[in-house]
Amino acid sequence: MFDERGRSREEVLEELERLLEADSTYSSGHPVASMSTIPHSLGVDVFARTLEKNAGRLHTFQGSARVEQEVLRMIADLLNLKGEPHGTTTSGGTESNILAVLAFRERAKRKTRSPEIIAPKTAHSSIDKAGWLLGVKVVRTRVDKQYRAVPAAIEKKINDNTIGVVVTAGTTYLGQIDPISEIAEIAQDHKIPLHVDAAFGGFVIPFLNEIGRGGQRFAFEVNGVTSVSTDPHKMGLAPIPAGTIIFRDPRYVKAITRTVPYLRGESSVQVSILGTRPAAPILATWAIMKHLGREGYRTVVESCMKHTDHIMERLHQNPMLHAAIEPVMNIVGIESREVPLDTIIRRMEQKGWRMAASPLPPTLRIVVMPHVTMGAIDAFFNDLDEISMTIPP
Ligand SMILES: Cc1ncc(COP(=O)(O)O)c(C=O)c1O
Repeated sequence: MFDERGRSREEVLEELERLLEADSTYSSGHPVASMSTIPHSLGVDVFARTLEKNAGRLHTFQGSARVEQEVLRMIADLLNLKGEPHGTTTSGGTESNILAVLAFRERAKRKTRSPEIIAPKTAHSSIDKAGWLLGVKVVRTRVDKQYRAVPAAIEKKINDNTIGVVVTAGTTYLGQIDPISEIAEIAQDHKIPLHVDAAFGGFVIPFLNEIGRGGQRFAFEVNGVTSVSTDPHKMGLAPIPAGTIIFRDPRYVKAITRTVPYLRGESSVQVSILGTRPAAPILATWAIMKHLGREGYRTVVESCMKHTDHIMERLHQNPMLHAAIEPVMNIVGIESREVPLDTIIRRMEQKGWRMAASPLPPTLRIVVMPHVTMGAIDAFFNDLDEISMTIPP
């Protein structure tokens, strides 16, 4: 009901607090499968101070426009792009993936009227959403035993209608990295663009490289990579909604740029899907990246990887459960030998844990974000061990 008479601020706030008691909080450690986390306090501060700013009106907010460009430059640097970045901030990985598919479709307009995009089975479901929205068929290809894209399977599906390929650096289910260099070579041979979805991995893989824990070439250092998306609101510790997509070639951005006839200057040109949209998360991202520097993010990734190691130690002690793959980054997919995963997940949720079940392979998934502390991990495994070892198969 929308009441005729307003109520006092105190009353409203009290009711809201009651309503929000049902929310899980990151500080409880309970959401173990979330790719978001407690935003960095500096980001929260900047966000709160800049709520009125509209990134859809950059003619009015020219300072914010400059900050957005600097965010894109910093992220392009992280992604090893030489030269100016061409792209936009977005509301997150879904919008970025939609923009990538849109750019590929627009650039291939003269080539085909039945556009197809190729993506391994492990690519995020937002690619299907992009296909659905944009009238592009999504052709899914198989993955290997490590759940990485199979380059030959992708090449086999390329035909005259193929407008591009999408691969992932840090898959949603297991944090796996597709063999991007090999696939980029294939894409180049066939003269088709390649999008790398690094929504999660963009703020992880560069630092894995630096701390000597694997990582690999995944972004613009690989010839043949056309665009890379990365979300500050995941491992970038920014408040939601903060995503980015960057293209190597400005023609892709031009292909997705629309003009708004009644607005002036920068405001009349829009690349993102949204019109009015908050500048606050962009400004918060800028502040956090400036404040932490590479060393700050390296420390965050190092700590998440230590916690991931601890998860693996606890997992090895449980005879009923095992990891689907050796973790590549701070995501662990847990398979159950005998006990049905649904039952485990239901019982864990009854104890307050907020879980996710991935379909490929069937796993329960832990995303080891900064709020997943050693204490939270031990509490989680105490419950998980008890449940998985007492449920009859
Ligand atoms: C690899 C990948 N891409 C895209 C997305 C979609 O991101 P968002 O939920 O921010 O739209 C996710 C979300 O988990 C993801 O893991």
